[in-house]
Amino acid sequence: MSSAINRRRFLGSTAFAGLAASTAQAATMKRSATRPVVISSANGLTSTNGGATSCVEQAYRLITGGADVLDGLIAGVNIVELDPEDASVGFGGLPDANGVVTLDSCCMHGPKKRAGAVACLKGVRTPSLVAQAVADNTDHHLLVDEGAQQFARSMGFSIEDDLNTDHSRALWLEWKRRTDPRHYPDPASRAQAGQRVGLEMVAEGKIDANHYYGTINCNGVNANGDVCGVTTTSGLAWKIPGRVGDSPILGAGLYVDNDVGAAGSTGRGEANIYSLASFLVVEFLRQGMNPRDAGMAALERIRSHTIEPRLLKEDGNPAFNVNFYVLTKNGEHAGVAFYADEESKYAVCDEHGPRHEPMEPLLPS
Ligand code: GLY
Repeated sequence: MSSAINRRRFLGSTAFAGLAASTAQAATMKRSATRPVVISSANGLTSTNGGATSCVEQAYRLITGGADVLDGLIAGVNIVELDPEDASVGFGGLPDANGVVTLDSCCMHGPKKRAGAVACLKGVRTPSLVAQAVADNTDHHLLVDEGAQQFARSMGFSIEDDLNTDHSRALWLEWKRRTDPRHYPDPASRAQAGQRVGLEMVAEGKIDANHYYGTINCNGVNANGDVCGVTTTSGLAWKIPGRVGDSPILGAGLYVDNDVGAAGSTGRGEANIYSLASFLVVEFLRQGMNPRDAGMAALERIRSHTIEPRLLKEDGNPAFNVNFYVLTKNGEHAGVAFYADEESKYAVCDEHGPRHEPMEPLLPS
């Protein structure tokens, strides 16, 4: 869906009809120190779960209507988690190597200075809500696997046997057919074959490149300058069962400091974890960098930590992508990545409506 259509849909909605007339005026007015803004990875605008509202629109509408910022963001990402068409997050996320969908999520509440997370959670479509329940109802930060599921059950979440859709199961079966025609080869060749076939399926257009390590990160700030964030994912497609990426790791897939801003990531989690780079972005913001430069400096750190030849292209640069979505307390934002082309976008919703804005690349493609 084009940005123009999204903006029309947004401005046409009852809640925002009054804003249409003031948009031009707002653009020329000096902005107040804090203006409500929600940003996310691109799927926060493209996924609507068959309805009329995207993640960033829903979150912005709730936040500007007075809802708690984190409640608004989580209601937004729930749209993507529940959307069977988004094979990177929640229900219908691409499964692990055994065909089981396992989900990771982290959320952080700036004003409350509380965070919660779940990893390798099976059977709950909305892991972000379970992560929030961990923050709100326990003294802990991160619950995993069976324990996370038991906790979710005790909090009243319904547990399903299988979060695959026909689409995610069919893709897994194809991956299995290609990598394991005669049961399993030795583990090393299996891992190599798994990676090769996964990337082949991306190149053939069977899997959206954004869904291979697919994730949604969504960050928001309200008029009081309260900053929150959430990241939620099904993680790496066809991962070794039990693998957890950066998304639920505080400081890696997400970090929020209510005095400064928020950052979150999508892309190759293993690379990000080694630098805890969302925390690093927020620290760079604290030092006075703007969102773009803070994100670029964190990417540069990840690049300098990436030395294994199997992870490098011929030119010595990383052979994978990592993206950061950066939001300051006063509503400035940026989306940055190792690699970005004209298709690479992040989602924004503010007083001008929802739209995609370009990701800025650190490196030439
Ligand atoms: N960034 C998502 C993951 O690596 O699982």
